[in-house]
Amino acid sequence: MSDQNAPNPQPLPPPATEQSSGCAASPPAPLRVAALADYHATRSTGGTQRALFAEIGANAEVLLLCGDLTNTGLPEEAENLAADLAGLRIPIGAVLGNHDCHAGRVEEVKAVLRRANVRFLDDEPLCVHGVGFAGVKGFGGGFAGHMLDPFGEEATKRFVAEAVNEALALEHALHRLDTDRAVVALHYSPIAETVRGEPLEIAPFLGCSRLAETIDRFQNVRAVFHGHAHHGMPEGRTPRGVPVYNCSMDLVGRVQGRPYMVLGV
Ligand SMILES: [Fe+2]
Ligand SMILES: [Fe+2]
Repeated sequence: MSDQNAPNPQPLPPPATEQSSGCAASPPAPLRVAALADYHATRSTGGTQRALFAEIGANAEVLLLCGDLTNTGLPEEAENLAADLAGLRIPIGAVLGNHDCHAGRVEEVKAVLRRANVRFLDDEPLCVHGVGFAGVKGFGGGFAGHMLDPFGEEATKRFVAEAVNEALALEHALHRLDTDRAVVALHYSPIAETVRGEPLEIAPFLGCSRLAETIDRFQNVRAVFHGHAHHGMPEGRTPRGVPVYNCSMDLVGRVQGRPYMVLGV
């Protein structure tokens, strides 16, 4: 599939800033990365999951929130997630999901969560103990040889352009990382394998292979986390073999008995 209508890539921004002990540090053991997605905070969930995040803080050195942080994208919902995160003392990297965009108040939602020490990876990558984290929301468009092409109606071209732009943003973010090990956070899936279990008819709206094509151009990517496919499969691989984990809370809870993943990277 061609990307003939794709915009020209923008100049690369400077490398990611350091956090914690920084990108240059060489840890003695793998970094313990916790990930969850599809929290869907509502107006009535404030403070109800503090014990969950305290447990995550005890089991991991960094937390990734892979989108659908809120149910309808309201700042009040974000305040309730912020209340749940209040006691967490490990770095938190996040990307938004489609639900976070619904109310058209994305910047307000981000501002609330930044006050709870959440770093949005589409704004600025994160480095923790020598491991780099990059992320974008992503978008739909379908998988492999069945991706939607920028052909025909202008509306179709705009839909595909959104997916292409998200893949380009991920490419820029990964270029900013100069670490030997990198982790990618997404909301939409980069592969078909981890959305299997969802109705076949909605698969093209759950992710896009353009994200995997980007990931596979970076040799330092060790793992990819995403959400959005609540009824998908927990694990798959990109065409180059990079592990991909669907960390949607419903799914992980069903498979592992606790609603978050922890992986050594
Ligand atoms: Fe969701
Ligand atoms: Fe979603």
